Amino acid sequence: MSLEELRRRSSAKWRTYPSDVLPAWVAEMDFTLAEPIVHALRSAVDNSDTGYRWADDVPTALAEFASAEWNWQIDPGNVTVLADAMSSVGQSLLHLTDPGSSVVINPPVYPPFFSTVEKVAFRHLRDVPLIVDDGRYRLDMDELADAFADPSVQAYVLCSPHNPTGTIHPAEDLRRIAELAADHDVVVIADEVHAPMTLAGAKHTPFLKAAADVADLRAVAIMSASKTWNIPGLKCAQVVAAPTVVERLRERLPIEVTYLVGHFGVLASLAAYREGAAWRREMLSALDSRRRQLFTALEDMAGVSMTWPEGSYLAWVRVAGLGDDPAEVIREQGKVALTSGSAFGAPGVGHVRVSFATSEAILAEVVSRLGSVVAAHAS
Ligand SMILES: Cc1ncc(COP(=O)(O)O)c(C=O)c1O
Repeated sequence: MSLEELRRRSSAKWRTYPSDVLPAWVAEMDFTLAEPIVHALRSAVDNSDTGYRWADDVPTALAEFASAEWNWQIDPGNVTVLADAMSSVGQSLLHLTDPGSSVVINPPVYPPFFSTVEKVAFRHLRDVPLIVDDGRYRLDMDELADAFADPSVQAYVLCSPHNPTGTIHPAEDLRRIAELAADHDVVVIADEVHAPMTLAGAKHTPFLKAAADVADLRAVAIMSASKTWNIPGLKCAQVVAAPTVVERLRERLPIEVTYLVGHFGVLASLAAYREGAAWRREMLSALDSRRRQLFTALEDMAGVSMTWPEGSYLAWVRVAGLGDDPAEVIREQGKVALTSGSAFGAPGVGHVRVSFATSEAILAEVVSRLGSVVAAHAS
């Protein structure tokens, strides 16, 4: 889509900053909506079909998608449909852990992980930062084992694929996490909303699949079509519960919470899972090109280094010479909005996150504006 068309949008990405600022911050894509989703939403509007959600078909649609995509067999009876990924994390923590307990996360990580643990669930945070080796990020398995052994730790929120580094965690790490969690009775909440955007060269393993034969593991996986098909404003996520927690979640979840699911979110998610394959294939191929375009452009920029993302469309970039919050300098001086790295926790200082789910031309403009700020500070 052209910049002129995109500026007609009224979502957060396009309204947060003034119109001279080019937005490449929040995880919204600049692509045209998939035709099956357009059709589903248009039919609903034409029929004045705007009542409360009826989500009964979503678990089966997800199960069929997961089986075809990852050979992961989900029992639709273990799936609960909630409004979005973060309320799913919040509800899981509230109902599966005790007040006063601690929750492990891996900074740099998606900023709402911090606030959901502390301000929604009122639990304590226990940071186990990712390890960075030669620009590549991975889980610190030794530190995770230590943290899980702490009796105050009752849950772990895993980001898989990892936002913002784009890490696809190896199956053997996931399996080891499952074993450690089962040993120490830690509940694993696996946020896998970026999984259907695994890019060429990498292979995502669903956490519950990696953990399939680990006895007594308490875990949920959070899935959604929202990121992959760019429908986050429509509100429909799915919580896949391991058999060990399914009853407890079902008993404790207030029915009102399930009414926060959007009816349009249900309709769009059904269209995405059942008929969204061709659009997704094309979108993934565009993301693969943009990933290469951005990486190549930034390679030549002094003081700038980008982590190669294995999944999704978010690039984690270290920018030297612009202080602790390069995003602020870049926004003020270069008129391009990126996400501040420090929002992802202490390891994010001096970093920015760049969304590359856009056209080649807009991405080139993002790079050019970023480059001019970097060059001005280097001279
Ligand atoms: C890791 C992660 N979890 C959850 C979300 C929120 O997803 P949604 O609003 O679609 O539920 C995002 C959004 O970018 C995300 O990156």
